[in-house]
Amino acid sequence: MPTLSPPPLLNQSPYQTYVYSYPHKTAYLPFPVRSLADIWSPEKRDALFLYIHVPFCEMRCGFCNLFTTVNHHDEFVNQYVNTVQRQAERVKTALGAVQFARFALGGGTPTQLSIAALETILNVAEDTMGANLKNIPISVEVSPETATAEKLRLLRDRHVDRISIGVQSFVDQEVLATQRRQTSTQVQAALTRIRDLGFPTLNLDLIYGLPGQTVDTWLHSIRTALQFQPEEIYLYPLYVRPLTGLGLTDREWDDVRLQCYRAGRALLHAEGYTQISMRMFRANYTATTSGPVYCCQADGMVGLGCGARSYTRSLHYSNEYAVNAKEVRHILEHYVTREDADFDIASYGFELHREEQQRRFLLLSLLSNEGLSLTSYRDRFHTEPLADFPPLQQLLDWHLASQRADLLLLTEAGIERSDAIGPWLFSHQVHSLMTQYALK
Ligand SMILES: C[S@@+](CC[C@H](N)C(=O)[O-])C[C@H]1O[C@@H](n2cnc3c(N)ncnc32)[C@H](O)[C@@H]1O
Ligand code: SF4
Repeated sequence: MPTLSPPPLLNQSPYQTYVYSYPHKTAYLPFPVRSLADIWSPEKRDALFLYIHVPFCEMRCGFCNLFTTVNHHDEFVNQYVNTVQRQAERVKTALGAVQFARFALGGGTPTQLSIAALETILNVAEDTMGANLKNIPISVEVSPETATAEKLRLLRDRHVDRISIGVQSFVDQEVLATQRRQTSTQVQAALTRIRDLGFPTLNLDLIYGLPGQTVDTWLHSIRTALQFQPEEIYLYPLYVRPLTGLGLTDREWDDVRLQCYRAGRALLHAEGYTQISMRMFRANYTATTSGPVYCCQADGMVGLGCGARSYTRSLHYSNEYAVNAKEVRHILEHYVTREDADFDIASYGFELHREEQQRRFLLLSLLSNEGLSLTSYRDRFHTEPLADFPPLQQLLDWHLASQRADLLLLTEAGIERSDAIGPWLFSHQVHSLMTQYALK
């Protein structure tokens, strides 16, 4: 028997790319102008997701590759908030009658805004877009330094029920090595403020693979986080090496990250948390009460703000994207000077033909504990998932996925390789667009 060459998926680093959506923004391209009214008219609009993006931060963390800037002053921030208001008015007119089922305010750091600006943004969601803030889940991202008692109280008064805070680590040296300004004492004070105000859901972000971090210091950070009984914890593997470097080879860095992941996961399991995806853990989870984390129908997302994306079933669109400080600034300056009528149209993004819609459905459900329901796939696309995507059979053969009745689920070995399995399932077109973007 000839020996089969080892599958590359199993040989490569488990840390290829974080698939939190598909396709990634770096696969977006300019397309012929389309009106939003035309884009949205065939869509169901009774349970959309509203997202508003605030691209300002008090510091630029060495590891962060999000669309955000630290280079801002009050006048510019006010101009940005006014532009979000102008955009919302045009978008709402284009959408016509809509209902929002969820609202999220993300960044950057939304609480970098002043109280007055935060109020304006919440009013945009409620009054201009018509989101019923009293009755829908609302999530806001905060950083420890900007999560002041006054801002948190405003958020609680406006019915925000989930606060997501970037902590990264409770070890000061580890945080400082990433050029992030914060002490463990400040973080713990912010967490106490959040808990005292009674937000139903606290989510805490931690990062492993940081300079100087060991499995022991990593577990110390998780244990400290657990003292605040967060309903959710995200464990992020570090992706961008901070400027100071790690003094490790790539292989050693992979090993450290894998050890931290396994130790963190074991600790959270022992503490009663359920793993929802490679990064996300939830306390008191029951599938029936908690609902799916990724509902494939998150395909109805309306994004406002410069860095926000919008999704229909067949079109994803946004502004242009960048990480580099100068480019971000340039895109932001362009955003705030757009004419009102410019917000009636979209001209940059990605059109999802049938095969890409299938891929998106399969990727996002397989990478969460929801799993890929073969029946849901068939009902939606009228074809067989394993016939459409032969690599799924390979995942089963390599014990990275298993089949349980109607569900295809990643195994433990599969979950820890989510960041390699995800990109391995991307289409050639998306791969090649992302590669071309990275080379620019
Ligand atoms: C929008 S931020 C959270 C809110 C706030 N800006 C803060 O940092 O406190 C989203 C999260 O993504 C994670 N993150 C960002 N870039 C990362 C990277 N390169 N590697 C790992 N995690 C990263 C961090 O845990 C961060 O808290
Ligand atoms: S991690 Fe948060 S605070 Fe730091 S630069 Fe990124 S978005 Fe801003």
